[in-house]
Amino acid sequence: MDNFQFFAPTKILFGENQIEALPQELSQLGKTVLLAYGGGSIKKNGIYQTVKSLLEEHSFQVIELAGIEPNPRVETVRKGAKLCHEHQVEVILAVGGGSTIDCAKAIAAAYYYDGDPWEFTKDRSLIKKALPVATVLTMAATGSEMNAGAVITNLATNEKLGTGAACMKPKVSVLDPTYTYSVPRYQTAAGSADMLSHLIENYFSPTTSATLQDHLAEGIMKTVIEYCPKALKVPEDYEARANLMWSSSLALNGLTGSGKAGSWSCHPIEHELSAYYDITHGIGLAIITPRWMEYVLNDQTVDKFVQFATNVWGIPYNKNKFEVAKKGIQALYDCFVSWGIPMTLPEVGIDQSQLKLMSEQAIQHSQLNRTAYVRLEAKDVEAILMNCF
Ligand code: NZQ
Ligand code: ZN
Repeated sequence: MDNFQFFAPTKILFGENQIEALPQELSQLGKTVLLAYGGGSIKKNGIYQTVKSLLEEHSFQVIELAGIEPNPRVETVRKGAKLCHEHQVEVILAVGGGSTIDCAKAIAAAYYYDGDPWEFTKDRSLIKKALPVATVLTMAATGSEMNAGAVITNLATNEKLGTGAACMKPKVSVLDPTYTYSVPRYQTAAGSADMLSHLIENYFSPTTSATLQDHLAEGIMKTVIEYCPKALKVPEDYEARANLMWSSSLALNGLTGSGKAGSWSCHPIEHELSAYYDITHGIGLAIITPRWMEYVLNDQTVDKFVQFATNVWGIPYNKNKFEVAKKGIQALYDCFVSWGIPMTLPEVGIDQSQLKLMSEQAIQHSQLNRTAYVRLEAKDVEAILMNCF
């Protein structure tokens, strides 16, 4: 196991009606609040009204930033930072999914940054300080509610880049599983695929001795695999939504990735698809991941794939390791199909015209050809994407 620092300062308020404890937590962070949210789902399901009345009852001054896009744009980060300066905002409250939370975190950092926020999206070391961020999570997926990351899109340059700093970790996050009852089927499946991907990205690492992290990851993967179909079948299944929600946070708060070397593979590829075609992150990952697995399966990696097949999917072991490994990859593919995920690029509106460019950009924007589990060059990325047709 490699050396690491683990710092998870986010206070989690988990469970039904935990929102009631929010005003007290918020008041320790500030009284002037930027209430940030997305395209209106929180107005339809009533969460907006609940949060707004609580804030009013407790005499917070509230400034609103509405309309944060899925795959949040740098323009919205600029707009939010401007609002914070104009109204001397003291704390940002993000109510939504990963996009809203990521945008709020970037605004928090932009507030103290003298240049344009796009600069620190390209170079995270520029982030020195951030306004405090609190979140009310409405969708289980990214883990943004408990981590330092923010992924911001610049459609003008076709770039979607991850940034982050410890000061951007939310101070408090409300995780009420009932808030995810209204998440549509497609987004429930996409969010679950995203969680599996976070675990898989950390699991397939050059470090083979982080056994605890791997077993934790296997447990969370099995939880997602068990409960996503239940949430799809009965959207108001509390047990299913609760297990998915806590899986979201634990899959990407450092628990399964600390102490492991290497960098991620499928995320940098997916971010190019989103940057060029604005697709749903988790769907792109579901399409890419089994194809990436098939591509990197070789004599060096087969043992890890056997572990994945047997421990996560319960595939019986036999001496033909490649057969076992391939059954594990097929099980993952079949699982995504059973969740109703479209499993080819044309089904999400992507043709072959930009494949070469996106593959080159994936190399430019990441560590794929330096520290990935199996190093990939642009031609490899292109071959993986070609297998998604
Ligand atoms: O915008 P609204 O109207 O709120 O609707 C959203 C949006 O259309 C809807 N939704 C969310 N909660 C809902 C709901 N609809 C009904 N009921 C609810 N309770 O779902 C749609 C998707 O929301 P979004 O926030 O975009 O989804 P997600 O949580 O998957 O976030 C995706 C973004 O996070 C980034 C992705 O790249 C993408 O930009 N990521 C962030 C990470 C991080 N910070 O650590 C890591 C991830 O790997 C990922 O890259
Ligand atoms: Zn992700």
